[in-house]
Amino acid sequence: MAIEKTYIMIKPDGVRNRHVGDIVGRFERAGLDIERLELGLVSTDQAKANYAEHEGKPFYEGLIGYITSGTVVKMVVSGEGAVAKCRMLMGATDPSSAAPGTIRGDFGLVMDENVIHGSDSPESAVREIGIFFS
Ligand code: RTP
Ligand code: MG
Repeated sequence: MAIEKTYIMIKPDGVRNRHVGDIVGRFERAGLDIERLELGLVSTDQAKANYAEHEGKPFYEGLIGYITSGTVVKMVVSGEGAVAKCRMLMGATDPSSAAPGTIRGDFGLVMDENVIHGSDSPESAVREIGIFFS
């Protein structure tokens, strides 16, 4: 498998509930490298670009409002098969069905505020890293 980069973002609830250290540690313990890490806000333009695939869906406006509502942690994570590995560590989108031991399974409560974002393919990763680290 190839060395990949992926875009990972700890969402406002993950920061607010003080899970940053634990989450970053999970990626490191899985053998992945933290290449970039930055605390900050997401602009509305960045949120819309990141979630363009969901425009028009019922949850879209809430998603944009939520991701721009507070401090996030923006990261570039790299390693062997990093995209799929990070998605495995994150767990299912809906925390109520995410497996124990995954980030969303351990820290998530509801679908709308599910702790973490991760790119869903190497192509998405290139696009998303460009949005947040241009
Ligand atoms: P993310 O992009 O945030 O990493 O999450 P994901 O790939 O696991 O899920 P995705 O389908 O891309 O959805 C993006 C975010 O929108 C919210 N969502 N709500 N109510 C719903 O049916 C619904 N579907 C998605 C979630 O907060 C999800 O993380
Ligand atoms: Mg997604």
